[in-house]
Amino acid sequence: MSENWTPQSWRKKPAVQMPNYPDAGALAAVEAQLRAHPPLVFAGEARNLRDDLAAVSRGEAFLLQGGDCAESFAEFRADNIRDMFRVLLQMAVVLTFGAKCPVVKLGRMAGQFAKPRSADMETVGGVELPSYRGDIINGMDFESKARVPDPERMLKAYSQAAATLNLLRAFAGGGYADLHHVARWNLDFVADSPASKRYHAIAEQISEALDFMEACGVGPTTVASMRTVNFYTSHEALLLPYEEALTRVDSTSGDWYDTSAHQLWIGDRTRQPDGAHVEFCRGVKNPLGVKCGPSQTPDELLRLLDVLNPANEAGRITLICRFGAGNVDKHLPKLIRAVTREGRSVIWSCDPMHGNTIKAENGYKTRPVDRILTEMRQFFAVHQAEGSYAGGVHFEMTGQNVTECIGGAQAITEADLMDRYHTHCDPRLNANQALELAFIIAEGLKAERKRVAA
Ligand code: PEP
Ligand code: CO
Repeated sequence: MSENWTPQSWRKKPAVQMPNYPDAGALAAVEAQLRAHPPLVFAGEARNLRDDLAAVSRGEAFLLQGGDCAESFAEFRADNIRDMFRVLLQMAVVLTFGAKCPVVKLGRMAGQFAKPRSADMETVGGVELPSYRGDIINGMDFESKARVPDPERMLKAYSQAAATLNLLRAFAGGGYADLHHVARWNLDFVADSPASKRYHAIAEQISEALDFMEACGVGPTTVASMRTVNFYTSHEALLLPYEEALTRVDSTSGDWYDTSAHQLWIGDRTRQPDGAHVEFCRGVKNPLGVKCGPSQTPDELLRLLDVLNPANEAGRITLICRFGAGNVDKHLPKLIRAVTREGRSVIWSCDPMHGNTIKAENGYKTRPVDRILTEMRQFFAVHQAEGSYAGGVHFEMTGQNVTECIGGAQAITEADLMDRYHTHCDPRLNANQALELAFIIAEGLKAERKRVAA
């Protein structure tokens, strides 16, 4: 453990993107309550994820990390959680089958409530109010009362995270994820799309293979991994009073873990090596993600790795690259070369969402599916050229049939955006578009695995 780290030591460092709570007493009371609440995850589970990620770093598996941009109190429903989980399972099947590669499944779920913002204030019709920062901090309605940071929201977010995690655990272990249901996971509204037809073809082949194996005496009763999955959770470690309150010493190892999720990541706006977010994250043993946008330099990245992973432990750090289609060539090779030269163990993951956000003519924030798929392909191409391993993807998605990203096989147009635009923050892939992304990844991964095996 580095010197002088405590769960509170971030408080002495410059903290950007943090709300100003008007009532310090109310904040302290909520923090005290949260400190007494049970942990949401166990340290042993976070260590299992670290081990699974270490396999990714060796090129033996692929990381699938996805979910909401911002979970919300309003959209909290069992069917939303189920549909998100189901699409992630479908994507995992496409990758496992298409690339013959184990997939580590990590949801942006059960705690993804706090949002960094480019601007502190939002102006509508000449009225200026503090920006919405996610349901764990303030309300989305454009009225001054809603935008005041309210610490009580942390308690509500905690209970929603606990209930979400409970359902996810039930799905993952209780039979829903049984491979025999692979054909049934298809959602009704994607039934006729090209991606869904491709998925069905895979599902049929899997079912046949399972029948064959069962005839040979190998089945879900003998092999647990055919009826259950390991499913992990993650969110951005942004709201530090909340993360601190859920940080506990693990009695088995004596190490500190942030028990709000298995993996935490540091956002592109909060990754200053001397800043509060890096200070907090360096002391917890959870696997960590670090977003790398166009402003990330090789030197600063190496400095961050010194601080966050001084022992160079495999599986500890996932670098989540988000440069935008057309910019991957410019930024990624120099980061890969620095990391390789210095012998640092990392997982390279691609976030093809956050560098591809545009404003449609009608004012909607959107992302062209073409650009998302292009960035993904470029990510694989650069790793192929550099001889490194493209090990993961990080994306924003929903199981609902939304119209937030334009294009894709459904050819959603700018005019369609207003039909079902429900996101609380960034535009997400719908289930169909997410499956399309999975097929593109399967292609890239299949080629990559041939190269790595050769
Ligand atoms: C996000 O993942 O929702 C996000 C805000 O990303 P970034 O920090 O990369 O901008
Ligand atoms: Co986002």
